[in-house]
Amino acid sequence: MAEQSALLACGCYRFRSVSHLWRPQLVKPVRLAIVGATGLVGRTTLDVLAEWQIPLRALRLFASDESAGRMMTWNGRSYALEPLASVPLDVDAAILATSRKISQQWAPRFREAGVIVIDHSSAFRMDTDVPLIIPEVNGRALNGHTNLIANPNCSASVVVLPLAALNREFQLRAIVVDTYQSVSGSGQDAVAELDAQLADSQSPAKIYPRPIAHNVFPQVGPFDVRGLCDEEQKVVDELRKILECPQLSIFTTTVRVPVRVGHSAAVTVECMKAVSRADVETAFRNMPGMIYEADTYKTPREIAGKQEVFVSRLRVNESDPRWLQFWAVGDNLRKGAASNAVQILMELFRD
Ligand SMILES: NC(=O)c1ccc[n+]([C@@H]2O[C@H](COP(=O)([O-])OP(=O)(O)OC[C@H]3O[C@@H](n4cnc5c(N)ncnc54)[C@H](OP(=O)(O)O)[C@@H]3O)[C@@H](O)[C@H]2O)c1
Repeated sequence: MAEQSALLACGCYRFRSVSHLWRPQLVKPVRLAIVGATGLVGRTTLDVLAEWQIPLRALRLFASDESAGRMMTWNGRSYALEPLASVPLDVDAAILATSRKISQQWAPRFREAGVIVIDHSSAFRMDTDVPLIIPEVNGRALNGHTNLIANPNCSASVVVLPLAALNREFQLRAIVVDTYQSVSGSGQDAVAELDAQLADSQSPAKIYPRPIAHNVFPQVGPFDVRGLCDEEQKVVDELRKILECPQLSIFTTTVRVPVRVGHSAAVTVECMKAVSRADVETAFRNMPGMIYEADTYKTPREIAGKQEVFVSRLRVNESDPRWLQFWAVGDNLRKGAASNAVQILMELFRD
């Protein structure tokens, strides 16, 4: 698809009421490619771009060879899906929402061609020259980027906002994170697997190691020789990098649950000093991007489609008030992926 001269959405854009927690900002019109536009993250990205009225000067959509030629509609216009055969040189930025393998192959090519890449895969997250960004926490790490920015893992994204709030005020000493992760975190084929097993209990497990319908299992990704599964190592590594606490003690158990959308986490924290409930509540309320609720709690069903992370069930240990616990839940496709990447895009193309 050739570059379109007209703006695809409105011109320079003033951030309106996406969330009362966000500050208004202006975004320059961008020429954008989305690779993996038909997937869960790609489609949610298109939803977010439209909902937030991000001004695009051109939009090119890529998917697998099998999808090439099919049409997708965005903001009332039709777009032909393209196969990824060469780097599109008529775009300013590309959001890669495909597999780690495709990112490993294509991100360096986009980067060398001068296209800024925001990558959803785990391929480059721990590279020292690649910022791993949650804008509310470490947006300043975008300074000096070299055309490749990594979007964090969806479980890390759900817990990092309250943890950053605590770290700023009280300094973290150790954390224990137990996740309850939805199947959409594994892509569209995993959602189809849950649906098939809900319809027919004999439908086989293909994506997952066990049947997921009416079940939970403490495994997200393959195990390493020490017995950690892939997701547990990602949560440890990525939280340390985003929080800039390379020595932080982190213990995690990642669990897959038969929920369509929304990752939840039960988090236990040891701070460097004793905290009061009132001070923690103030820290949580002052943290942009999250909503703290003192008197109720949210579940994945209630927050699917929302941008913010919801934090509740705060408990400060009475016998040792350096310790506290809370419950966090967020939409893995929104803050865990698409909307965080669009936030990064907005930071990069700020007017
Ligand atoms: N899902 C989440 O909550 C989440 C959160 C954070 C990060 N991520 C990461 O984001 C990435 C995408 O996840 P997802 O959940 O959106 O996966 P998904 O639903 O399985 O979608 C995969 C996308 O990749 C496309 N694709 C496959 N082969 C391709 C090729 N050769 N060239 C171009 N595109 C190709 C697919 O196109 P077709 O439709 O044509 O096959 C589809 O659009 C993954 O790296 C994942 O780890 C996901």
